[in-house]
Amino acid sequence: MIVLCFLLCLCLDLICSSPHFYDHTLCDSGVNYPGTRYTCNSSRISCQTFVVYRANDKFATILSISNLFRRDPSVVLSINSVSSSNQVLETGREVLVPVVCSCTGKYFQINVNYTVSEKMTLPAVSCETFEGLVKYVTLIEENPDIKGVLVGLVLRVPLKCACPESDDDDAGVKFLVTYPFIKGDDTTKLSKKFNVSVEEIWQENHLEASPTVYPYTTVLVPLKEKPVINLSIPDSDPPIPQFLPTVPVERTTKSSQINNLYSVGAVLVFCLILATLVACGLYIRNLKKFKNSNFHSSNHRISSLNSCSTPTRSSANSCLSPDLLIGIKYSLCTFTMEQIRTATKNLSESTKIIDSVYRGSSENGEVMIKEMRFEGTKQVIDLHSKINHVNIVKLHGVCFGEHDFTWSYLVFEYPLNGSLRDCLETSSAAFNWQRRTHVAFDIATGLHYLHYSVIPAYTHLNINSKCIFLTSNWRAKITVFGNAKESRSSTYSKSWIAPEYLTNGLLSEKVDIFAFGVVLFELISGKDAMDGNVFKESISFLGRGWIEGGCFDQLRGLVDPCLKDDYSLAEALCLAILARSCVEDDPMHRPSMDDILKILARMV
Ligand SMILES: *[C@@H]1O[C@H](CO)[C@@H](O)[C@H](O)[C@H]1NC(C)=O
Ligand SMILES: *[C@@H]1O[C@H](CO)[C@@H](O)[C@H](O)[C@H]1NC(C)=O
Ligand SMILES: *[C@@H]1O[C@H](CO)[C@@H](O)[C@H](O)[C@H]1NC(C)=O
Ligand SMILES: *[C@@H]1O[C@H](CO)[C@@H](O)[C@H](O)[C@H]1NC(C)=O
Repeated sequence: MIVLCFLLCLCLDLICSSPHFYDHTLCDSGVNYPGTRYTCNSSRISCQTFVVYRANDKFATILSISNLFRRDPSVVLSINSVSSSNQVLETGREVLVPVVCSCTGKYFQINVNYTVSEKMTLPAVSCETFEGLVKYVTLIEENPDIKGVLVGLVLRVPLKCACPESDDDDAGVKFLVTYPFIKGDDTTKLSKKFNVSVEEIWQENHLEASPTVYPYTTVLVPLKEKPVINLSIPDSDPPIPQFLPTVPVERTTKSSQINNLYSVGAVLVFCLILATLVACGLYIRNLKKFKNSNFHSSNHRISSLNSCSTPTRSSANSCLSPDLLIGIKYSLCTFTMEQIRTATKNLSESTKIIDSVYRGSSENGEVMIKEMRFEGTKQVIDLHSKINHVNIVKLHGVCFGEHDFTWSYLVFEYPLNGSLRDCLETSSAAFNWQRRTHVAFDIATGLHYLHYSVIPAYTHLNINSKCIFLTSNWRAKITVFGNAKESRSSTYSKSWIAPEYLTNGLLSEKVDIFAFGVVLFELISGKDAMDGNVFKESISFLGRGWIEGGCFDQLRGLVDPCLKDDYSLAEALCLAILARSCVEDDPMHRPSMDDILKILARMV
């Protein structure tokens, strides 16, 4: 859960643009996070910058501190208003150390060689000697051959630092000073120390407003001039809230909301029962009507498929029209078998979209026809009587087969751009990044509706890129065919699906979340997710320590080549991270549709 929250926060942050993150883990942590080392951009090879170091028992003079950082003591002395390099400084006195920060491939770093002179461990080198300016995990990476007790060894110590994007960027930032927090610090105090606005610090480090920061972690302080530390800033007062506390408000109103929900729920349930009764009535009536028309088929004139509206449009026998009830625009047409045959060229293979689903065309428009067992139709019709959503393919009508009722046909709208899978396959330039993120949002909205607004909650269980269709203006619609396995040749694919569903048939909405993650990966990469293992390989860089492996390069490798470079890398990373969290093996670690929607809503 923590990992998930972290990923989600990161994801939200990425939509902003600063490349630097705040790593909230302590210096002795063995895990890499964004911000464990500051990644560098080839646009800037090296720069002059500063780090903050605090005098301590072992390094108590400017001279000893300068030696630790391999700097010239006179230079360090000149910027710290200390009279002599041998003057013993008060413990905790902050000293600015001028350093050269350079970009070595992936990361900015200050190269320091440190000779271990006494028995000490790597975490102690990281947290005590260098006061958190380098993380333990970085020391392991840079000194892979070193184990056990370190005496007399020379360690490569790449200290954390960063350079501004260019000499004079828009904000005029000239230096990014690496500052290690200690107990009692916060960003407000820090901003006073350096006379810089607290918002700039938050922005530079991808921190949310009034963040919690921890001792032995570092931030970058963006400065327009050479740093001067005001050493007489008192400890901050208790933090004054900068924004209205929205979270508590939400919490306290929850109980009254629940009461309201109960009464609204009761009304809704009542309406739904009524609607279901009406739908059942219609269903039976249609069935009778079908039988009649079937018996007198010789007299029945074949009308074009979409002209059902006048002769066979259903309406309840009572004075209550289903449209008036609960406001659903719901009325089903009945179709004859001839109409179905004409539309699908006698159910020919050429009109088949996927297993047991046909595309039918008539002069008036395109429809999608799902062949299913008679027993299954009731469930689907009931379900669709409760569904009215722009991101779910609408049910127009039904045809109850012929002779025996074994096979029935449900007639749905057909979104004109065809299935998502086909759109990805044709690698059309029109299906650009913006449209893809919008499609992701649409799918999430549709699923959210099924999970939260349909009563009882409906789990789709068969979300994949073949059952999602795109309209002519690239909006996505999910097909809902019910989840009874009723197709004639049940070749449900071996596609990548939630492991708990496969192994113990565990059904929960988390199965849909998993499938949604897979669809996200398809949207990003354009590839078909038939084989989970191939996919898992290509996204392994998103796992633990993903930041270390030049993740942007691997991400570019993952993204559909036909998008060319016409997409936002940050958004792609955000989607990929989101998708990655959806396909967690443990269903409890997957986000909910609520979480997902919140993230996607920020991208479209
Ligand atoms: C690298 O720098 C270029 C321009 O200097 C900028 O457009 C790009 O966003 C930077 N990339 C990262 C990852 O910081
Ligand atoms: C650190 O030591 C390595 C050899 O162990 C040497 O190549 C490198 O130049 C040294 N770096 C500094 C900054 O002294
Ligand atoms: C702090 O910065 C402001 C401008 O941002 C400047 O006017 C002011 O003189 C600075 N204060 C000190 C004490 O340097
Ligand atoms: C340092 O901060 C204190 C308290 O905020 C302030 O009174 C003082 O003028 C500052 N000193 C300098 C040199 O900016």
